[in-house]
Amino acid sequence: MTDYNTIAGTGQPPRTCNSCHAANPGPGSDRLILGWFQPQPLKDAELRNVYQKQLYTKHSTQSIDGFGMEHDGNISTANDLLRQSTFSGYTSQQKTDIISYVVCFDTGTAPAVGYTITLRAANVNGSGEQSDWATLQSQASAANIDLIARGTILGKVHGLLYQPSKANYISDNNAVYTQAQLQGDILAGDTLSFMGVYPGTGATK
Ligand code: HEC
Repeated sequence: MTDYNTIAGTGQPPRTCNSCHAANPGPGSDRLILGWFQPQPLKDAELRNVYQKQLYTKHSTQSIDGFGMEHDGNISTANDLLRQSTFSGYTSQQKTDIISYVVCFDTGTAPAVGYTITLRAANVNGSGEQSDWATLQSQASAANIDLIARGTILGKVHGLLYQPSKANYISDNNAVYTQAQLQGDILAGDTLSFMGVYPGTGATK
């Protein structure tokens, strides 16, 4: 990451990777279109999905997957890309370090987005379920996700949203429940599925 941010070794005049591929915070692009690129103006590519493109290679007859690097896929991997002459301002060790950073770029989507647990009387006291439930709540507190729930409360279907600042759940009819109350209802026969969703998308109204 330090090399990526500080070593000006790309092109003429030499620039840092970060000067075009703005990272931390950012998706790996300052979103600018460079008019001088040949044969046509090109946008500074985002780098948060480069890790998904590493399975393509033109060096063997078969590839598991993928498209390759750059707008036309003419370069196989990030390694091949940094072998281009425009990157001559870096030592091979620096290139290795920079690629390691690029392929572990933050995707912008927390792993807890989409993670779901369904709690019933039979499993709600399980240590795995309790730990997952706590993790989902702490991920909501960290603003990595909104935490929603769907299912029944006292036998009626409801939707819920976890409110991290109050450590409770608000329902679609504005009733408020603590985790302990929901746990009690589940033990008494209700079923609720808790799911992490993109921050800002969990509101019930
Ligand atoms: C002057 C701005 C600029 C600098 C500096 C720069 N890049 Fe790029 N980069 C681009 C542009 C524009 C593209 C898109 C090129 C294309 O699609 O043909 C690109 C494409 C890429 C891609 C391919 C992305 C994909 O999904 O296909 C990677 C990887 C990449 N750059 C990494 C780096 C790294 C690592 C550095 C520093 C060693 C760097 N770049 C420096 C502008 C820059």
